Amino acid sequence: MLRLAGVSHAYDGRTVLRDVTLDLAEHRIGVIGANGSGKSTLARTLNGLVLPDTGRVSLGEWDTRRHAKQVRRRVGFVFSDAANQIIMPTVAEDVEIGLRSLRLGREETARRVDEVLERYGLSDHRDHPGHLLSGGQKQLLALASVLVTGPEILVCDEPTTLLDLRNTRMVHRTLAGLDQRVVLFTHDLDLLPDFDRVLVMAEGRVAFDGAPDDAVSFYTKLMDQADGA
Ligand SMILES: Nc1ncnc2c1ncn2[C@@H]1O[C@H](COP(=O)(O)OP(=O)(O)O)[C@@H](O)[C@H]1O
Ligand SMILES: [Mg+2]
Repeated sequence: MLRLAGVSHAYDGRTVLRDVTLDLAEHRIGVIGANGSGKSTLARTLNGLVLPDTGRVSLGEWDTRRHAKQVRRRVGFVFSDAANQIIMPTVAEDVEIGLRSLRLGREETARRVDEVLERYGLSDHRDHPGHLLSGGQKQLLALASVLVTGPEILVCDEPTTLLDLRNTRMVHRTLAGLDQRVVLFTHDLDLLPDFDRVLVMAEGRVAFDGAPDDAVSFYTKLMDQADGA
């Protein structure tokens, strides 16, 4: 179980996460909230990209501060801008690079790369540069590159924000079909009805934690209040 205990974080003295305590065990967890509410910072604490100033983030016996490598191997991370994760000359190499640290040997590595490219419909593009893919395909490539390493949990920070409706749906279908646990940070409220649990972030705190429809109405009211409606 992924556990946050009393997690706070500040950038340059400005607090953006305030005493967040959570056990994240459900299969599908959504996190919503206004811009600047601390979602990305929270997302990044989950695999040690951000270390909390106070408190602790742990996965089972591993702590992101002391066991970053063990946590990162189990908690995969997907950014909004998939282009940042596309670094190699070809699509196949982008998938392969993530596997290198697992030292599986040439044959097993090639087998896993082929399998994941096939699964995400990228086989025809294996020798093309990733940056020539469509926006949705880039995001699938980013997902494939993370999933090929076999994480237990996938953290996605606004994976569909830069995508059009068709590509958004493609990424959604893909996420919905995963066996892995997913923590999805999103502004796309349409994705949430099937989720097991949705958190609403406000000013660095978890302001609501519950069922998707209740979370969405809480968030909507919060935004209405902010607008003085
Ligand atoms: N690396 C950083 N350095 C300084 N301030 C940051 C950094 N990252 C985020 N912030 C600030 O922290 C606050 C929370 O940001 P973030 O976690 O990205 O929220 P969200 O993802 O909900 O928009 C924002 O005010 C943002 O400007
Ligand atoms: Mg963000």
